[in-house]
Amino acid sequence: MPMFSAPKGVPEYFGERGAAFLAVRNALAAPAIHAGFHYAEIPVFEDTALFVRGVGASTDVVSKEMYTFDDRGGRSLSLRPEGTAGVMRMVVEHHLDRGQLPVKMWYAGPFFRAERPQHGRYRQLQQVGVEAIGVEDPALDAEVIAVADEAFRALGLQQYQLLLTSLGCASCRPAYRTLLMAFLSELDLDETTRERALLNPLRVLDDKRDSVQAQLADAPLMSHHLCEACATYHQQVCGYLDLLGVAWTDAPRLVRGLDYYTRTTFEFTHDLLGAQSGIGGGGRYDGLMASLGGSELSGIGFGLGTDRTLLACEAEGLSLDAGTPDVFVIAIGAEAKAACVRTAGKLRRCGVVTQMSFGDRGLKGAMKAADKSGARLAVIVGDHEVSQRTAVLKDLRSGQQIDVEEDDIAARVVSQLKGAAQ
Ligand code: HAM
Repeated sequence: MPMFSAPKGVPEYFGERGAAFLAVRNALAAPAIHAGFHYAEIPVFEDTALFVRGVGASTDVVSKEMYTFDDRGGRSLSLRPEGTAGVMRMVVEHHLDRGQLPVKMWYAGPFFRAERPQHGRYRQLQQVGVEAIGVEDPALDAEVIAVADEAFRALGLQQYQLLLTSLGCASCRPAYRTLLMAFLSELDLDETTRERALLNPLRVLDDKRDSVQAQLADAPLMSHHLCEACATYHQQVCGYLDLLGVAWTDAPRLVRGLDYYTRTTFEFTHDLLGAQSGIGGGGRYDGLMASLGGSELSGIGFGLGTDRTLLACEAEGLSLDAGTPDVFVIAIGAEAKAACVRTAGKLRRCGVVTQMSFGDRGLKGAMKAADKSGARLAVIVGDHEVSQRTAVLKDLRSGQQIDVEEDDIAARVVSQLKGAAQ
């Protein structure tokens, strides 16, 4: 038994899977960068009240799952359970909304929720997120959704769906809420569910139990009770998504776990992930900034689950950049080492991913390590090559090898790798 192990529910990534995780994170961020979102580094912990106000006191995320502690000055802080509240605090605090709108930011990193751990549900979860703040325009909603879609698509994922709905606004949602509460009050629900229905009736629609779902078949749905402005807005979002070639599914029963959503709301689910199928989600939030002491500006954003996207890629059998080297450099003997160190440095400066054999391994052991690394080529230098200022360049797939002048190795390797890639 090791003396210590990682905390429960905290996934760790290392070796080839570490490289694959990084590849997923970079791929999730790339479309946001291409769409003009700027990187923001937001704090990992914030004033607890920020999340209570921003995310909602009645949500599970805030009421049951936050890691909250007092700092040495007696202030209550919480590890961030999500990123939107922190970004909005940043915008308000630094008056970013007084500049060019929309403010477009992306962020990435760990978030913390004390959930019951299971496959794909972690206590330290990783997200790549974006927020676009200050403009209410259906074309912006479509852009944000398309950025998320492009991230999944560029990774090669195919078996995912985009679920889309509108949760209405301050003028149509209260009336719908009253209607839904009246409907729920007639049902045969247990005490806890009844209490939930009073606090947050929409969440009851998301109850997974068959006994509850059976009673919800005729429940009133927000999408049938949108005001004219929200209905038109939603139609326009759908129209722009069609123009962008983003496939979506109407999901009038979609419920999100966070309270701030209004109008456009969406979730990406993956077909092969079982119970934890949500690989990303987001939506528009009208009142969030004002509730945090800022102006009445609206925003829209998403959070994409990096851990779950990696699981989805693995489930679809996609090959990700596993950090495989292009070249493995092998020195046989002390004198060859200097030549190999020089060559490895040169190769890396040319952008070639290079590993070297260390220690005094014999040729056999070093060749085994080279094969295991997955490298395409090996550069081998022994006493004979040192005396000739040459090296053996070996193609590890075909087994073909040639002698190359030391000064020509980098150019030769680059051209062979290019040839192999074509
Ligand atoms: P969220 O739906 O709570 O939204 O989280 C976004 C994504 O993070 C989920 O779709 C899922 O992939 C991943 N995720 C959430 N919880 C876990 C967990 N326990 N384990 C593994 N992955 C998880 C938000 O956080 C919002 N801030 C998104 C947003 C941004 N909305 C507007 N702007």
